[in-house]
Amino acid sequence: MIDLHCHLLPGIDDGPTSMQESLELCRIAVADGITHAVVTPHIHPGRWGNTRASIQRDCAALQCELDALGIALQLGFAAEVRLTDELMGQIEREEIPYYGEVDGYQVMLLEFPHGHVIPGSEQLVNWLMRQKIRPLIAHPERNRQVMKNPALLQPFIEAGCWLQITGGAVTGHFGERAQAVARQLLEADQVTAVASDGHNSKARPPALQQAYASIASDYGEGRAQRLMNETPATIAAGQFDSKDDKALSTGTRYTASPGRRPWQKSISGGRGLSPTCPKCGCAGNGAASGCRRLSRCSRATCLSSVIRPWITPPRCVPPAVQWAWCA
Ligand SMILES: [Fe+2]
Repeated sequence: MIDLHCHLLPGIDDGPTSMQESLELCRIAVADGITHAVVTPHIHPGRWGNTRASIQRDCAALQCELDALGIALQLGFAAEVRLTDELMGQIEREEIPYYGEVDGYQVMLLEFPHGHVIPGSEQLVNWLMRQKIRPLIAHPERNRQVMKNPALLQPFIEAGCWLQITGGAVTGHFGERAQAVARQLLEADQVTAVASDGHNSKARPPALQQAYASIASDYGEGRAQRLMNETPATIAAGQFDSKDDKALSTGTRYTASPGRRPWQKSISGGRGLSPTCPKCGCAGNGAASGCRRLSRCSRATCLSSVIRPWITPPRCVPPAVQWAWCA
């Protein structure tokens, strides 16, 4: 499974407070069947001042620790971006990390306040869409105003937003009302992805297996696959495309189901899931294939741009393929 929303980086938000705790959460995720996780620390002005650069740096550090310890979890990074009046400036300053591009739109995990839907949010969402940024709304089923009136989500859906619900909400961990809204959205097939929103090992672990089983039982295996495997793979495709990445390169596992939604492009052969040069499309290592257009890796998850200044090899040598992109 691929978890699109979790807080695994140490000491930068309300997730784990130490590297040891982060590693414990990663072990929990792996034991639960999660092979890939896009970490999404909070970006919330005045509370959590994370930026694209700081998240990339901390994600690289955690990935190094995972690799060194043999914990089989591949990390990507984005952010859970709080909807505030500073959002437009953050975007213009390029402080926001996105999941990646799907159908011409950068996908951004957008968090509403927990208690209500701010008046004017629709206008901001429309502005985002005009900037070719598509909000993936984080856990709408846990918004107290939405819980009272789920119809509040409809204008956002019609504007082009996607919805991410929490696995724990599906299984009742966040109360009856959140569960009812989550189920209502599932019934209407309005959910784009299910993620853990994992924060800690006890109350909110990074786990999806129970939700997967519940959705597979109630809505079919195909739906569970789509919500926790296929669509997340498409959204985060550019973050995990390594030829060494067996889980993502197994074509049969990510074959798109018939009648897929527009955002579910060719999963097994789509851009980003095959080990091709991101600049010219050559197959694999630029030097080996004769490609001369590779100069510097532009991938969000490539560690080479941030790893050298502060990590000493050989303990944290990144996968060979990532060096190859930067040859
Ligand atoms: Fe979150």
